[in-house]
Formats: sequence, structure tokens, C-alpha cells
Amino acid sequence: MSSIAVIGSVNLDLVATVKKLPEAGETVTDAELNRFPGGKGANQALAAQRLGADVHLIACIGDDASADEALVLLQEGGVDLSRVQRVPDMPTGTALIAVAQSGENHIVVAPGANRSLTPDMLTLSDADALICQLEVPVDTVAKAAQEFGGFVCVNLAPAMHIDVSILQRADLIIVNEVESSWYGDSLSAASGMIATTFGAAGAELSKNGEDIARAKPPRIETVDTTAAGDTFTAALTVALVEGQGYEEALQFACAAGAAAATKLGAQPSLPTRDEVLALL
Ligand code: RIB
Repeated sequence: MSSIAVIGSVNLDLVATVKKLPEAGETVTDAELNRFPGGKGANQALAAQRLGADVHLIACIGDDASADEALVLLQEGGVDLSRVQRVPDMPTGTALIAVAQSGENHIVVAPGANRSLTPDMLTLSDADALICQLEVPVDTVAKAAQEFGGFVCVNLAPAMHIDVSILQRADLIIVNEVESSWYGDSLSAASGMIATTFGAAGAELSKNGEDIARAKPPRIETVDTTAAGDTFTAALTVALVEGQGYEEALQFACAAGAAAATKLGAQPSLPTRDEVLALL
């Protein structure tokens, strides 16, 4: 079993399911409201654990009731939370999410305690792989990537300015097509692989500007795409660290992301390995 460290965010997701997403300035009503554990870091940690890895999460939560609610599925799933730190007088990260009947979403994040995961708070330990995203301070991600000895995957979401050292150190960079356009030519500084996802159209894996694999997800009934990218990130890292070939690993990651889009909510939708294999 591979061991994975995840450095990242923990959020409580407040999810309004609506017929259609509002335009700027528009009010839509008749929504159904749900609360789900989320946060890109926490989602990636639980996704990797459900896919068969032994995962520990390095994160900050607030000093409030949302913290316990946000951690409950990670605890039930067996993710090691001994390096999750509770920050006094801070709220737990919260995401306001609107999900349309089409499965598309809008997400607004109030990071709260996730901002407290500064470089001096890092407690890195040995693992086969490290997964980071950008919902915690970028300096922390840069330091972790430099100091970690194993395989480093950085999901550049949400898109923001990063130190080039992250691109030079990461073995695997993951972006969706919106993030890929946002980063543009700056991604050419990446020394490792870049995986780009295109939703239902699949994903491609490249290195030094050359395609090394392409894959399409299985056909599914889309309910909610929240955390599909997090599941893809976890699955591709798990598969590559296990030694799967590029095509096989990318196919596995596409199927895992698709599986996550078949259910409502971030963490309730994360598939087990058997559920992914059944889709392949
Ligand atoms: O990637 C999905 C996640 O983004 C949600 O769970 C939400 O918390 C935001 O961080």
C-alpha cells in the first residue's frame, strides 16, 4: 500500500442545489440546502484513502463546531488526522457552493483557518508521495515541495500566482482547462508531467510539451461535479505511485473523477477503488 501526505484545505461546504446557476445580479430561489465536508485538500486526502492509499493530512481547522463537522468523513474513512491543527479564534474554512441540475457549480471559498497553515506550521514526514493544492498559502506549498523527498503532485487550483520553484520541483502538475488557460505559457517551466482535464472530454498527460497519454471518462449521469477534479488528482497520484503506466493511470483517474460526479456533495461522492474499477 502506498503512503501519501496531503497538505491542504479543510472546508465545510454549504451547498445550494438549484435549477440553474444565477447570473451576476440575479436571484434564484427554490434551492435545496445541504452541508457536506469538503475542501480540496481534505477531498484529495479522503479520495486517495478510499482508492487504497495510506493517507495523512496536514491542515488547519478553526476553533468552532464546523471543524468537527468538516472532519467527520475523514475520521470515518481512516485518514490520519494527527497533524491537523486547531487554530484558536479562527473559523474553519467555508465554501458556498451552488450546484445546477446540469451538475455545473459556482464555488466561493472563505479560507478561514486554512490561511494559518504557514510554512512554520509544516510537519512533513516520510511518505511515497505528497499532494498539494493552492487553498493554503503558496509559500507553504513551495516549502513542502522543496523539502519533500518523494513524488510531488501539485494541483494548481484555484489558479493564482506561484513561485516557479513549484513548477520546477513537481513531478506532476494538475490543471483543468480554465486553469491551464490562466497559467498559459508559464506552465512550460514545469520539469515534470502536466495533466490537463477537460471535464467529460477526458484528460491528457504531457511532458516537455509532448503528449504521453490521453484518456476519456466512462459515460455517466452527471449529478454534481464538485470534487471530481480532487478525485482525479488523488487517483492519478495513487496510480502513478503504484507504478501503473501513463495510459492506464490516466484512464483510472478519469474514471475516478467521473464516479465522483455521479453523487451530490464533495466527500460523500468520493468513490472506492472497487467503484472505480466497476466503471472501467
Ligand atoms: O474542489 C471542490 C472543493 O473546492 C469543495 O469541496 C470546496 O470546499 C472548495 O474547496
